[in-house]
Amino acid sequence: MKIMILNGPNLNFLGIREKDIYGQDNYQSVCKYIMDKFDDRDIEINIFQSNIEGEMINILQMAYFEKYDGIVINPGAYTHTSIALYDAIKSINIPTVEVHLSNIHQREEFRHKSYTAPACVGQICGFGKEGYILAIEGLIVRLSEKKF
Ligand code: DQA
Repeated sequence: MKIMILNGPNLNFLGIREKDIYGQDNYQSVCKYIMDKFDDRDIEINIFQSNIEGEMINILQMAYFEKYDGIVINPGAYTHTSIALYDAIKSINIPTVEVHLSNIHQREEFRHKSYTAPACVGQICGFGKEGYILAIEGLIVRLSEKKF
């Protein structure tokens, strides 16, 4: 099973940006936390990050050509703006779970709407870095049940 994690803008600034909201851990240690969790499982995980919307779309299209089984995406602020990312997730037809470190529904009104979530099988928010683990576990269960 091959799973892609795609992080959007400013997520490479974890550990620097608004630590009260996003936590103390830096981006590298969050990535390591995820990789270590699935180290002893028969699953390939590749993590990507981009601050650029079009580059994220290129990476999603690459997931199609490279036959990924599932995707975990944190589109950052593009969540609340990007019809292009919604279209890209719809286009590639790969089960995708949306993750947010913070609980976007508890925050500013403009964060309550997700353009990308309707293209996804589910959304997990408010659990910090653990959200990525939950999303991968959810994908594994759904993929092995072939419920898509
Ligand atoms: C975020 C939530 C977004 O609203 C914000 O723009 C981010 C991070 C999260 O992980 O909580 O950049 O996606």
